[in-house]
Amino acid sequence: MSKLSIRDIELRGKRVFVRVDFNVPLNENGEITDDTRIRQTLPTLAYALERGARLILASHLGRPKGKRNPKMSLSPVAIHLSNLVKHPVVFAADCIGSDAEGQALGLRDSEILLLENLRFHPEEEANDENFSRELARLADCYVNDAFGTAHRAHSSTVGMTKYFTQAAAGLLMEKELKYLAKTISKPEKPFVALLGGAKVSDKIEVIENLLPLVDSLLIGGAMAYTFLRAKGLSTGSSLVEVDKVDIAKKVLAAVEKNRYRLLLPVDHLISQKLDGSVPSRIVDGTSTPIPQGYMGVDIGPKTIELYQSEIAKAKTVVWNGPMGIFEVEPFAKGTLAMAQALASIHGTTIVGGGDSVAALARSGVESKISHVCTGGGASLEFLRGKKLPGIEVLTNI
Ligand code: 3PG
Repeated sequence: MSKLSIRDIELRGKRVFVRVDFNVPLNENGEITDDTRIRQTLPTLAYALERGARLILASHLGRPKGKRNPKMSLSPVAIHLSNLVKHPVVFAADCIGSDAEGQALGLRDSEILLLENLRFHPEEEANDENFSRELARLADCYVNDAFGTAHRAHSSTVGMTKYFTQAAAGLLMEKELKYLAKTISKPEKPFVALLGGAKVSDKIEVIENLLPLVDSLLIGGAMAYTFLRAKGLSTGSSLVEVDKVDIAKKVLAAVEKNRYRLLLPVDHLISQKLDGSVPSRIVDGTSTPIPQGYMGVDIGPKTIELYQSEIAKAKTVVWNGPMGIFEVEPFAKGTLAMAQALASIHGTTIVGGGDSVAALARSGVESKISHVCTGGGASLEFLRGKKLPGIEVLTNI
């Protein structure tokens, strides 16, 4: 899958619309609490500015449901960005209309305009024709660097591209595609996938898509209990998606039939409460059932060892989702051990999903991971084997 890159287009003196994903968390005072997504876009911005592009940046922030909401304004991002790029960033109070057009036309080479939240207009998410045209009117060329939003078919990711002769990928988008596409199509073996999180329903298609591709698929987090229930094992009061037990049974049957390697936790940390306020204990998943009133909150020490040894053999690992309720200190061991295990291998490691990325940061191993995806939802869609609309519309080369 080769897509036109920002490196392939003439930028000097051009008004370049760059769809970025500046959907960053803000606290009650409107301060950015994690600017990773903004920082990840800096190489694209620096590249374009060095070549004299006139940048028009557009993003959504949160889910304002088509209404102007000052709490979801991108204006704090404009200030933060100008500090990062050490360059003034002009802010447009609306993303379309005569004022925005005037500001875009008034840009000189190597200047930056950041548009207000696209989702203040319901037309953005509706992929509305007129709105798409209005956005396109602001610029001469189109670049998408918002991998995190590539699974959304909105005006700024899909609709407006038809008004340009070409649509190019930014450097971050390229990097995300390089890692995810390469991993799926030509992984260096052994290839291990580590999947966790609360719900099987979120990951079932990912599991089905990855099973034939991986050498082993390791499952942790609450979603493991739906599989254990499907195997007829006792799960006590653990979170089980009862309506997904049949699907889990089908997956297990396919595993058996095709001799796929799917590993489930062999022991568990269990507790009567989810907040860590009462003592927890370890049970062996097979010989000792999880008693009623107890819930699995983390993988146990034998599972940690088993998963560590699988990861240690791997040349490629993809990880999405925590092994337990790792936000609660006593239940964090399994997830943090997996972060360490990935950081220790000599191979390609790709981590996606907010919780797994947070676990990397908590373990202080983020810099040892080959690629940390900026899009949780988008990377899952990719791993499900789905085509992402924001990538499909980029020009093929
Ligand atoms: C994300 O945070 O996953 C992206 O910015 C997309 O946001 P959305 O789920 O609100 O579309």
